[in-house]
Amino acid sequence: MKKTPQSTRPLTFLIVGAGGRGFSYANLAKTMPGKARVVAVAEPRAFHREKMAREHGIAPEMVFETWQEAAATGRCLADCVAICTQDADHEACVKGFAHLGYHILLEKPMAPTAAACKRIIAEVRKHGNVFAVCHVLRYTAYSRAVKRIVDSGRIGEIVSVEHLEPVGFWHQAHSFVRGNWRNEKESSFMLLAKSCHDIDWLSFIVGKPWKHVSSFGSLVFFNKEHQPAGAADRCLDCKLSKKCPYSAKEFYFGMLADEKRHGWPLDVVDPTFTKKNLTKAPREGPYGRCVFACDNDVVDHQVVNFEYEGGVTSSFTMTAFTPMGGRRTRIFGTKGMLETDDSSVIRIFDFLTQKTETIDTNASGASMAGGHGGGDGGLMDAFCTAILENRPELIVSGVDATIESHLATFAAERSRKTGRTVNA
Ligand SMILES: NC(=O)c1ccc[n+]([C@@H]2O[C@H](COP(=O)([O-])OP(=O)(O)OC[C@H]3O[C@@H](n4cnc5c(N)ncnc54)[C@H](O)[C@@H]3O)[C@@H](O)[C@H]2O)c1
Repeated sequence: MKKTPQSTRPLTFLIVGAGGRGFSYANLAKTMPGKARVVAVAEPRAFHREKMAREHGIAPEMVFETWQEAAATGRCLADCVAICTQDADHEACVKGFAHLGYHILLEKPMAPTAAACKRIIAEVRKHGNVFAVCHVLRYTAYSRAVKRIVDSGRIGEIVSVEHLEPVGFWHQAHSFVRGNWRNEKESSFMLLAKSCHDIDWLSFIVGKPWKHVSSFGSLVFFNKEHQPAGAADRCLDCKLSKKCPYSAKEFYFGMLADEKRHGWPLDVVDPTFTKKNLTKAPREGPYGRCVFACDNDVVDHQVVNFEYEGGVTSSFTMTAFTPMGGRRTRIFGTKGMLETDDSSVIRIFDFLTQKTETIDTNASGASMAGGHGGGDGGLMDAFCTAILENRPELIVSGVDATIESHLATFAAERSRKTGRTVNA
């Protein structure tokens, strides 16, 4: 691992893209003052840029409107850069900052094509930056516990895995029908945008390279065909809103009425939380559109089957049509079965004793309320500690692991599109 030039604490961060994710990592830095501090920001939207500068006391000369301006200084403005721009911009950002010597925290997915992911890896290898992709699920207390149990041999050899990602009906409507990840050309396909976490998690837990993959899925529901007679194209004008579980009016105003729910995803619709602005945004912007009258094309359900080295298999389902909740998983081993219905409480059934042990990983302090079940914080902590204490093994979403699971995700999507099994 390349040594940081200033191994002094705390590590300083440049936040590139002060949107949802940029703020998540910046806010986490505040909770770990001994390890991380935000000293610079690049963000075109004035409200978000100024908020970040204000909340972190960033000096005016360290506030930039774009990442290009920050990179053009030709200086390493901080020890680390957190790249939190949209998927298609990641490659250019990495190229802009890697050669300057930053340690790089890169949001997932790395990039919308396999070729671009490989170019990112090549760039990082060339400059020797400390590098982590934000596959935050690897860093939860729950995932660490599952990995420990599986690697200990307690359930024997893994033979197969069943894994469900319940996206949640309103999360699908918000992000993947109306929002930033609704249209493949503008962002990326669903499996990459949302479920690259799951493909990566499966590969982390199984711990073997994948050999074959097949996949099916489509957009069956959120399309014009399903728009009820009499529905308006804007929820604020729709007479059917009270009967529609996807109504933007009911959903966002319901959140506005409850202060505890003032945060994501309301802040994506309008960051000010005023009734006036929250009426204007759904009337004019993307988040007020009828879910049956958007320009979305990403799938609302998909299944993926993998065969890994040694004949181990996994089956994965992503579906919009669920409540919000944790991932559900069954791991079938030769000596026992491990299962969870919330990515938090683990049950292990032992074939020999025929007894079940329950382990509550939430009880270990990583609250599910924390970003991604504590994964956001786990990642930030691992990234900073890896650099400060020169412990590269703490980064479990580095170059090799990440490219492997990204390529698996691209292969699965190729299978869905071609109707054929794809081999590694
Ligand atoms: N790890 C996870 O679980 C997770 C969750 C959600 C999103 N993501 C990923 O994180 C990334 C960001 O997502 P988000 O939800 O924060 O999106 P966002 O739209 O809220 O934030 C992106 C920000 O980048 C800014 N930006 C655009 N051009 C820029 C430029 N030239 N220079 C600097 N900033 C620029 C935008 O103004 C915006 O504020 C995406 O790649 C997304 O797929 C990851």
